[in-house]
This record gives sequence, C-alpha cells and structure tokens, in this order.
Amino acid sequence: MKIIIAKDYEELSEKAFEIMRGVLENPNAVLGLATGSTPLGLYRKMVADHLENGTSYKGVRAVNLDEYAGLAPTNDQSYRYFMRSNLFDKIDIDLNNTYIENGLAEDEAAECARYNAILAALPRDIQLLGIGANGHIAFNEPGTPFNSETHVVALTENTIEMNARFFKTKDEVPRRAFTMGIKNITDARKVLILACGANKAKAVYGLVKGEVTEDLPASILQKHDDCILIADSDAAALIGE
Ligand code: PGA
Repeated sequence: MKIIIAKDYEELSEKAFEIMRGVLENPNAVLGLATGSTPLGLYRKMVADHLENGTSYKGVRAVNLDEYAGLAPTNDQSYRYFMRSNLFDKIDIDLNNTYIENGLAEDEAAECARYNAILAALPRDIQLLGIGANGHIAFNEPGTPFNSETHVVALTENTIEMNARFFKTKDEVPRRAFTMGIKNITDARKVLILACGANKAKAVYGLVKGEVTEDLPASILQKHDDCILIADSDAAALIGE
C-alpha cells in the first residue's frame, strides 16, 4: 500500500485530485465513486478543473458504491442526489453513464444481481473509498465476508449515528442499504482510500498495520496490488509514518 500523509484536508484533496487526474488521462475511464464528507474536496477540485481546464467526462463512466434502501433518487438524502448535486450536474458526464443501486427496487436480489452485472461489464480504473471509524468500506460493516458482492445490509447503530448528522432526526436515517461487496471493491484496478480526522485514526491503523481480518473490512486492502491511502495527519496519528 502506498501511503501519503497530508497536512490538512486541502492537501489531502489536492493529492487525491492528482491521482484522479492521472486516471482521467484516459477519456473513457471508469470511475468507482463514493459519497460521504471525505471526497467532497476532491469533487470540488474535479468540478473546478472541468470549468477551468475543460477536462471532459463525456466518455467517462461512473459507478457508485452504495445507496440507501427505500430512498428515491430525488430524495435529497439519497446518494444519487448527493452525486448529482456535488459532481454529476457540475461536469459534462452523461447521466446515462452513471450507475448507482436503485434504492426503491422491490426485488432486492434482482437489483443486486443487476448491479453485479454492471460491475462485471465495467471494470473500474479506480475505486474511491472513505473509511468508517469502525473500518467499514462502503456499507460493508465488520464481519462482512471478503468475497461478498453487492448485497443489502442492515446498518449498524454506529453507522446510523454517524450518518444522522445529514438528516433532521436520527429516526429518518434509513436502516438498510444496498452496497457493493468487498470483492466488488477490490476488483478495481486501483483503490484510492481517503481518511480525514482523529476519529478515523484507529481504523487507519487497522487498515495499514493491523491483521487482515473481516473484523476490519478495510484491512483487505493490504493485499491489493495498487492501493493508495491518503490520510491527514490526524487520521495518520497512530501509524507512525
Ligand atoms: P465520511 O464517511 O467520508 O463521511 O467520513 C466515510 C465512511 O463512513 O465510509
């Protein structure tokens, strides 16, 4: 794993953008994208670069990690909405080339199979990831098998609490979500995982130096051929780099 320590969030976002820009040299790149607060700085830089330098996303395909079950794409807490408002509607990507699980799918097994087929047809050049304070990647909580593919999960109490900040009340946080599985994530050619803040320090330690165990889903990335971690100094506090 390549480790980059950034002095602050701005530098973390800049370093992440440099890596993304390299991937975007291929005008037909397939990007695995993520929601959450950590990638927002990177997305702002992608938008600025599109506006200032004309970097085009017309041939780019984007595949997202996860989506809440039960939320419509138009719901302002859905991850589809997040991606549109923070990135897709601000660049020239064709929305038909953007993929995310359908949170309203009634036949959940069929939806997971449909998504796995999309992932198989679109090998990702890069998969962007955040990391949960408990070491989760996407909604793959501790205990998720490393060979998992797209599935529906019941969110842990910890994740519900972490995500409650985006909702009016904790009761409004959906209890279930569709998520790419860990195998889907590690199938990407390159993985870029971003970690910011002291509350991620323990998880980052497990990611870099801990045992590779399903109890800390991100630890599987130690075995990936091309994984880059960018952590700010608070998140990197325990790894002694
Ligand atoms: P965050 O979420 O970027 O909002 O911290 C990361 C995650 O839980 O995967």
